[in-house]
Amino acid sequence: MSETSEPTPSSAVPTPADAAAALGKMHFRKMDDMSREDFAILRKVHEQNLAQLPDLLLGLLKSLGGDEAYPVDRLTHSLQAATRAHRDGRDEEYVVVALLHDVGEALGPLNHGEVIASVLHPFISEANYWLLLHHPVFQTYFYGGAVGINPNGREVYRSSPYFEHTAEFCAKYDEVSFDRDYRHEPLETFIPMVRRVLSKKWTPPGQGQG
Ligand SMILES: [Fe+2]
Ligand SMILES: [Fe+2]
Repeated sequence: MSETSEPTPSSAVPTPADAAAALGKMHFRKMDDMSREDFAILRKVHEQNLAQLPDLLLGLLKSLGGDEAYPVDRLTHSLQAATRAHRDGRDEEYVVVALLHDVGEALGPLNHGEVIASVLHPFISEANYWLLLHHPVFQTYFYGGAVGINPNGREVYRSSPYFEHTAEFCAKYDEVSFDRDYRHEPLETFIPMVRRVLSKKWTPPGQGQG
């Protein structure tokens, strides 16, 4: 290889250290010492976190593909749910909600709906936020009676304006998506949708969105 050849792909990829160096460094010991220069760097850190969120969530989603115990692994379950929503003509935000609805399971074994609802809250409607928050208890309607747990836990939410929205999601997209014979779209179909739905400008806490 000559000295003028192109860099190899591995040497061209920025490392996390490169990215950190590009951001600069803040210099306060306590946050009440923060300067405007520090805050400019703080902003860049959060903007970078925001830009990386789609890949972080897609990584969590891919990790669900390691299941052995479910009838289909939970990546497949998620792709089936998203595909069914997409083929029904649901809007892009709804399809992304269907795709990501279970990615909180590793972090929130007791409250996985809350985990993903909170992460996606700044990007989605109140109806879809509520759907994500409560979908685990709404799912028990479909299997609770057969396994000896209360199937009607969802009834405490009957007066919610989002009750039917959530019940429909579970009936049409979540509870049916463990079908080893269903042909779903590949993950690549949904990646641009995830990036578009999660595209948002960062604002400081309390200054517009969180
Ligand atoms: Fe779930
Ligand atoms: Fe699910």
